Amino acid sequence: MKRIAVLTSGGDAPGMNAAVRAVTRTATDRGVEVVGVRRGYAGLIEGDLAPLTARDVSGILEHAGTVLGSARSTQFRTSEGREMAIRVLSDAKIDGLIVIGGNGSQSGALALSRAGVAVNGIASTIDNDLYGSDPTIGVDSALNVALEAIDRLRVTASSHHRMFIVEVMGRDCGYLALAAGIAGGAEVIVTPEHDHSPARVTELIHQSGRAGKQRAIVVVAEGAKNTAQRLYECLLNDPECGFEPRLTILGHVQRGGRPSAFDRLLATRLAAKATDMLLDGQHGQLIGLLQSAATATPLCDVVGKTKPLPPELLRIAKAMKV
Ligand code: F6P
Repeated sequence: MKRIAVLTSGGDAPGMNAAVRAVTRTATDRGVEVVGVRRGYAGLIEGDLAPLTARDVSGILEHAGTVLGSARSTQFRTSEGREMAIRVLSDAKIDGLIVIGGNGSQSGALALSRAGVAVNGIASTIDNDLYGSDPTIGVDSALNVALEAIDRLRVTASSHHRMFIVEVMGRDCGYLALAAGIAGGAEVIVTPEHDHSPARVTELIHQSGRAGKQRAIVVVAEGAKNTAQRLYECLLNDPECGFEPRLTILGHVQRGGRPSAFDRLLATRLAAKATDMLLDGQHGQLIGLLQSAATATPLCDVVGKTKPLPPELLRIAKAMKV
């Protein structure tokens, strides 16, 4: 291969820049040119490309977001859109592509791979809902942001004998909520996979009040059916609750945190492997971290699957009385 392209797609995740940097430097080190695609698949369809040299990716490692820009492209989901993207790659004499992103982005990579494009994916999403990588790039940094917020809210909760209902991101996956709830010492965790009814949450809060707790933290995943807003309204109208409830929705704040050491290392390792494999002619793979090793899994085996919450964390959450 003489020239490869790299793009970031879907929701930005801290560590994506570290991955772009490592792709660029791994390829240039092997004498291969790199082209950056701006704004994910949308930019690919429009031919929004720019050469990337080893120097161009200096000073981006420590920044969240993605210097390439990202997008969610509806046009790329159509076969016409994908054909346009493939034409752009061939007109620019690009021999291979690296896609950095989560589930939706990797399903795009699989579609390209099936159409004959040499493509490898790198698992990157704060949701940690992608098969083939445990964890994905970005989740550690997002978790640290959520934890800092929970720690701060706990201070005020204790001072005022209050209950904070904290909504965290994660789309349809409860991983961020489960992990933030355990690490943040929450009294209750509500996820799409283990959705507590308002009555159950109320009962758990009553129990912790009877156990002498002076404050309560309820962490709710954004994808839970019993939403943070709904739980807040129910608890607000519960005269026996004992704690004054407040609602905090963390939202996109979780995506912009400084990439942690873990995410920078993870991104660099996965990107180096994805690029080396692509240049060695091994493609159609998602590169993720499995059992502490950068590991390739065929894209067709990971895309579209629902990753379950780690049973160990679920057991621990139960034992911690959340
Ligand atoms: O996939 C990452 C994520 O932050 C999800 O947790 C969230 O549901 C979604 O993206 C938000 O998407 P957007 O940034 O397009 O509003």
